[in-house]
Amino acid sequence: MTLSVIFDNFFKSTGGLQFVARWLHVLVGIAWIGLLYFFNFVQTPSFAELSPGARNEAFDKLTWRALWWFRWAAMATFAMGVLLLGIYASDNTDYLTKFTGPSILTGILLAVTMLANVWMVIWPNQQIVIGSVRQQLAGGEADPRQPDSAKRGARASRANTFFSITMLWFMVFTTHFAPLYATAGDLKNTAIYWIMVLALWAWVEANALGYVGGLDSAWNKFVFDDHKKTIIYGFVYWAVIFFVGWEILMRNV
Ligand code: HEM
Repeated sequence: MTLSVIFDNFFKSTGGLQFVARWLHVLVGIAWIGLLYFFNFVQTPSFAELSPGARNEAFDKLTWRALWWFRWAAMATFAMGVLLLGIYASDNTDYLTKFTGPSILTGILLAVTMLANVWMVIWPNQQIVIGSVRQQLAGGEADPRQPDSAKRGARASRANTFFSITMLWFMVFTTHFAPLYATAGDLKNTAIYWIMVLALWAWVEANALGYVGGLDSAWNKFVFDDHKKTIIYGFVYWAVIFFVGWEILMRNV
């Protein structure tokens, strides 16, 4: 009998460190995505119904606090994810080249885009919005950049909600279902898969950033104005990537 199971082969892909990292990764991941869903499904529609004074108070006291947990949970999710990836890729040299590769890399492509949206778009723009709100609460004027910043942050936040559905699928799929798609460990047509995934990803992200016809492009208004549509088309996006990508293009069984 070994002395301790958790410390046996601690740094290996079957050992305790990967398991602790996995647990912490999911723990901080739910904190991040939970707050993302709170902002999109609860805060935005509620704020639209509040009086301007009450809304400003809520931005100052509630949103400000929520944003601290939101952005640091995102960073911690990333850190634990990179640790997991490091353990797997260094221990199993074929982790990224066999069926697990396209699965986890699809999840990571979307998750890292979401992290960049949090730190490089949502947070800087929300600082402008809340700075402006605080000026108004102190009896001053609104910052003229506030409406544009609010829209930029909102589009990136909706893109994250949209991506989160497919992102989480591939996080979980990698270990629990992807093995069924390739008996010999190899998938077919991975190059075509990546062209499709990258094109779909670039289209959504470029739109959210306003690079395709501005922040009020027809796509942005259609998919991102109403959170219910963001959810519906988020599932359509998942269905295209999964059924076309994995069931039609890549499966090798
Ligand atoms: C930010 C960048 C991220 C990176 C680099 C990353 C990386 C990883 C890696 C390498 C795995 C292990 C996959 C395997 O089992 O082989 C994983 C699993 C997982 N990730 Fe992430 N991830 C990220 C973001 C997220 C986010 C935002 C969530 C949201 C909750 C999340 C949730 C999960 C879940 C639930 C699992 C599967 C746990 C299991 O099946 O036991 N990840 N991630």
